[in-house]
Amino acid sequence: MSNATAIDRVMAWEALDSRGTPTVACEVRVAGGAVGTATVPSGASTGAHEARELRDGGERYAGRGVQQAVSNVERILGPAVHGHDARDQAGLDATMRQLDGTPNLGRLGANAILAVSIATARAAAAAANVPLHRYLAADGDPLLPMPMINIVSGGAHAGGAVDVQDFLIVPVGAESFAQAIEWAWRVRRATASVASERGLIAVLVADEGGLGPSLPSNRAALELLASGIARAGLQPGAEVAIAIDVAATQFVQGNHYHLAAEDRTVDAAGLLEELAEWRASYPIVSLEDPVGEDDWDGWRDASTRWATDLQLLGDDLFATDLQRLERGIDMGVANAVLVKPNQSGTLSGAKAVVIRAHEAGYATVVSARSGDTEDDWLADLAVGWRAGQIKVGSLTRSERTAKWNRLLRIEKEAGGRAVFAGRAALGRRRT
Ligand code: PGA
Ligand code: ZN
Repeated sequence: MSNATAIDRVMAWEALDSRGTPTVACEVRVAGGAVGTATVPSGASTGAHEARELRDGGERYAGRGVQQAVSNVERILGPAVHGHDARDQAGLDATMRQLDGTPNLGRLGANAILAVSIATARAAAAAANVPLHRYLAADGDPLLPMPMINIVSGGAHAGGAVDVQDFLIVPVGAESFAQAIEWAWRVRRATASVASERGLIAVLVADEGGLGPSLPSNRAALELLASGIARAGLQPGAEVAIAIDVAATQFVQGNHYHLAAEDRTVDAAGLLEELAEWRASYPIVSLEDPVGEDDWDGWRDASTRWATDLQLLGDDLFATDLQRLERGIDMGVANAVLVKPNQSGTLSGAKAVVIRAHEAGYATVVSARSGDTEDDWLADLAVGWRAGQIKVGSLTRSERTAKWNRLLRIEKEAGGRAVFAGRAALGRRRT
């Protein structure tokens, strides 16, 4: 029998993401006729250590076009992987990485390579006639991730309303994924109503579907969120806790951090002190990027202080890169890793980070990007890799709800076999 899972045809096209910016979409067909598609996301608060997406430059789409990346899929990557067994993901990804030849995949484009990588996994799953999460899972029952849901946005996602990028909730007391989503809906609605009572414009949504009100300080955003949790009738801390993505890389200024919303400049110690004060006042369970992506000393201080009882989540710090994660493990920095497949550029690269993180006792949070699409493969990755947590933005806008809806369906389909990761999924150093 000829190999039904041999890659037979690879097609790509330029699509639009949720910000209306061009992105790469791809379809892979295998010899047996099964097909997989994938559309890749794109960040705004991109770190320096991420894999590089290829953009055309020039006038078209103000330089953001991806025709070159599309052409690289069809003329270079496609022919190179023709005949390759779609089930051999690691081999496929290694071939594409070699073909690119640069550490950050900037020659052919991480957007081009990731599109082929994920579309191929989808085609292999379709050929096996199983859902993607089942194809990706070695065995075991589906593990539904604890969601981290954006309620109030700032930073690069909300026109710089406040400096801190994301104020999120973690429904730590929920007993199922569906209940976690319903609680989050209550908090989002209650927070919007508190905001409008205070005369804040709360109808405008930020890039990830959260509220982006203009506020006098970062602390005011926390206070607003805490009021929303209380208004929703949910117990702060016991039922619904708070997570913050400081995204501090965005406001690094030399050796300092510039809080533009408050017109203040602090050093790393000052920033950590500020976060400690917030923590004393609000039920915070997770801090993402509390200092900048290259501030390893600041990260070490934060970890010495908090790693045993607070999730310390590295996004720009690790950039879904195995070598950076190894350095973090060596230094005892952080206790959780944000996993964004497009920071890595291949499915295998992102998976390797999840596996190594779990080995080292680090938690993992699979994450969408601020520029995302209606595609829902991320939800299957979270379940199949048993990531434990997922971060997708807020509960409005279809590129966000696509992932939540996919998880709601997976939970329903699994019935009694569905296991919800719950609060135990959060990172903590256990020594
Ligand atoms: P980005 O934001 O996609 O704009 O990088 C998401 C995050 O920082 O977690
Ligand atoms: Zn982040």
